[in-house]
Amino acid sequence: MQRDYSPFTPGIPVPVEFFVGRQAEITHLRDKIVRASKGQLQIAFLSGERGIGKSSLASFVRHLAERENQVLGLHTFLGGVTTLTEMVRRVFDRLLKDSLDKAWHEKVKGFFGDHIREVGLFGVSLEFGAGPSDLERMVHDFAPALRNLSNRLQHKKKGLLIILDDINGLAASEDFANWLKSLVDEIATSSAPLPLCLLLVGMEERRQSLIDLQPSLARVFDLISIEPWSDEETREFYVSSFSKVGITVDDDALEDLVEYTGGLPVIAHEIGDAVFKQTAGGCVDRDSAISGIITAAKVVGRKHVEPQVFQFIQSTRYSSILLSVVKDIENVVFQRQKVLSSLGEDEKKVFDNFIAKMKKLGVIAGVPEKGKGYYRFCNRLHFLYFMLLGMTARQNHE
Ligand SMILES: Nc1ncnc2c1ncn2[C@@H]1O[C@H](COP(=O)(O)OP(=O)(O)OP(=O)(O)O)[C@@H](O)[C@H]1O
Ligand SMILES: [Mg+2]
Repeated sequence: MQRDYSPFTPGIPVPVEFFVGRQAEITHLRDKIVRASKGQLQIAFLSGERGIGKSSLASFVRHLAERENQVLGLHTFLGGVTTLTEMVRRVFDRLLKDSLDKAWHEKVKGFFGDHIREVGLFGVSLEFGAGPSDLERMVHDFAPALRNLSNRLQHKKKGLLIILDDINGLAASEDFANWLKSLVDEIATSSAPLPLCLLLVGMEERRQSLIDLQPSLARVFDLISIEPWSDEETREFYVSSFSKVGITVDDDALEDLVEYTGGLPVIAHEIGDAVFKQTAGGCVDRDSAISGIITAAKVVGRKHVEPQVFQFIQSTRYSSILLSVVKDIENVVFQRQKVLSSLGEDEKKVFDNFIAKMKKLGVIAGVPEKGKGYYRFCNRLHFLYFMLLGMTARQNHE
C-alpha cells in the first residue's frame, strides 16, 4: 500500500494501468487493426471534446495492438504543425525514436539510410534528418515508403498503426485534405496490399473542416466519437485510482465527485489529484471531497480555461450572476428569463452584457431549436468549470 504518490495524472494521457472504460471503442479499433494487418487499409477518425480522452484511448489501443497483434504503432502529436513536410518528418522521427531499444532497430536504420543524424549531448540520441527536398519526396511517396518499411519488418511486424494526433493545424489545410484523399486512393488501387491502419485524432470541428475541404473524405473516415464517461465509469475511475494507493472513498463523497466530474476525464484527474492532497487518512470523506473540488475549480480555471474567459469570469461583478446561471442550468442549457428573475436590480442591468460577452468568447451560444432566450454551453469543460465555481460560491456563502 503506497500513499506517497498521487495516482492521478492531470494533463497527460493516462498510463495504461490506470485506463478506465471505453470498451466498445477499444473493440471497434482493435477489429480495424486486425483487418488492417490482413492487408485491408483502415482509416478512422477519433473525435471528441477537449479533455474527453482521445489521446489516452489512442495510446491505450496502440499498446494493445503492439502487445497482442504484433503491430508497429506510431503515435505522433502534430499540435501546431501546418505543413505536410513537417508532418511526415515527425512521423518518421517518431519511428526512429521508438525503435531505439527494439530488436528491429537495425531494420529501421536500414530504412532511413543516411538520413539519420546524431543529436543531443554526446550524440546519444538519433534524429530523422532528411532535408527539405527529401521531405517533399517522402510526402509524395508516403505510401511506397510505408510499403518499403512494412516489407523490411515483415518477419517482426504484421502491420502499421499510424496515429496522427492533434491535427488542428493540418485540418485547416487543403493540402492535407487532398494528400489524405490521394493516399487512400493510391493504396486502394494498388495491387500490393499495405497493412495500414491510419487513425486521425481531433475534435469534431476538425473532421468537419477536412470534409469541407475535400468532401470525398466523408466516406473515407470511419468515425469513432468518444462520449463522456457514464456515472458508473466515473465511479470506477475514482474507486480504482484511490484503491491503488490504499484509500477508500465514502459513498456520499463518491457521489459528489461523480456529480462535479460530469463524465470528463480531464476534470476527473484534476479533482482526484486535489482530493488526494486533501486526504490525510485512508479514506476520502465528504469534507475532503468538497475541499478537493473547490481546489480543483481553481486549478481547472488556471490550467484549462482560456485566459480571456478565465479573467472575465473572475470579475466580481459577475460572480453572483454566475451562481444564478449555475442554479438554472439543465443539460448545459439555461434560459435568460429564468435566470433574470432570480437576479437583483444591479445584476439585472449587467446580465445582457454578461450574455453578450460569453457569446463573443465562444463559451455559450443560442439554442435556435428551443427558441429565443435559450443558451447552451458550447463545451463541457466550460460548463463544468461553472459548476465547480458554483460549488465554491455556495460553500463561501454558507
Ligand atoms: N480512459 C481513461 N481512463 C483514465 N483517465 C483518462 C482516460 N481518458 C483520459 N483520461 C485522462 O483525462 C485527461 C485528458 O485525457 P486526454 O489527454 O487523453 O484527452 P484528449 O481528448 O486527448 O484531450 P485534448 O483534446 O486536450 O487533446 C488526462 O489527464 C488523461 O490522463
Ligand atoms: Mg489529446
